[in-house]
Amino acid sequence: MNGPVRGLKGNRTCILAPSILSADPLAVGDSIRSLGGEGDWIHVDVSDGHFVPNLAFGPMMVEALRRGFPDAFIDVHLMVTPAEDFIGMFMNTGPDIITVQVEAARHIHRVLQAIRDAGITPGVSINPGTPACMLEPVLHMVGLVLVMTVNPGFGGQKFLPEVMSKIKYLVRERAVQSLDFLIECDGGVHSGTAGVLVKAGCDVLVAGSAVYDSDDPARAAREIKQNAELEWRV
Ligand code: DX5
Ligand code: ZN
Repeated sequence: MNGPVRGLKGNRTCILAPSILSADPLAVGDSIRSLGGEGDWIHVDVSDGHFVPNLAFGPMMVEALRRGFPDAFIDVHLMVTPAEDFIGMFMNTGPDIITVQVEAARHIHRVLQAIRDAGITPGVSINPGTPACMLEPVLHMVGLVLVMTVNPGFGGQKFLPEVMSKIKYLVRERAVQSLDFLIECDGGVHSGTAGVLVKAGCDVLVAGSAVYDSDDPARAAREIKQNAELEWRV
């Protein structure tokens, strides 16, 4: 897919997508501004208390983010089931990417096509417990593959190293099939795990608690990116 996503990365080693799940719920806009431009994308987690045991953000939040940050790249991660019942709510809210969990769609091709038809880049995500081969039928349809590196639902969990093989699988398949999706990792990303993920082939790092729970979110974001670059250059 020759979409807008690939171009965004340019010559950069990685894109940092701070997750507002860990932002101050009373002042999400201020939290984003506190990054001083060190965050590249805004990652918005949508959870339904059903697919994952937590409730978070709806279409009104995405709409408000688009209004408040007209030039931002908004990365919406739907952890809701069935995905087909929710995508319509987000279509007109101004997201750049809508990612759905491969486990949460009854008809994954139809869901991804509907997102694409709305002029939005479709992404697909996979849980740590789901085999990578579940992605194979739709890799040609997406601009982004999100590899969950924790079981989804909450911020602040520990990175699961066994997902590394999925990143390697995706890097291989992308080359073999001449595809151009970005690989995003989400969960337990911090300055200690960023390097190994980028070295394995991750293009986009989602980080929630490591950025927003820090006393200095801008510095924390910068450190994650610096560590990613360092490891990558070894
Ligand atoms: C988890 C969400 C993540 C979460 C990551 O279900 O998908 O985006 O915000 O949080 P950290 O970076 O704290 O693991
Ligand atoms: Zn997420």
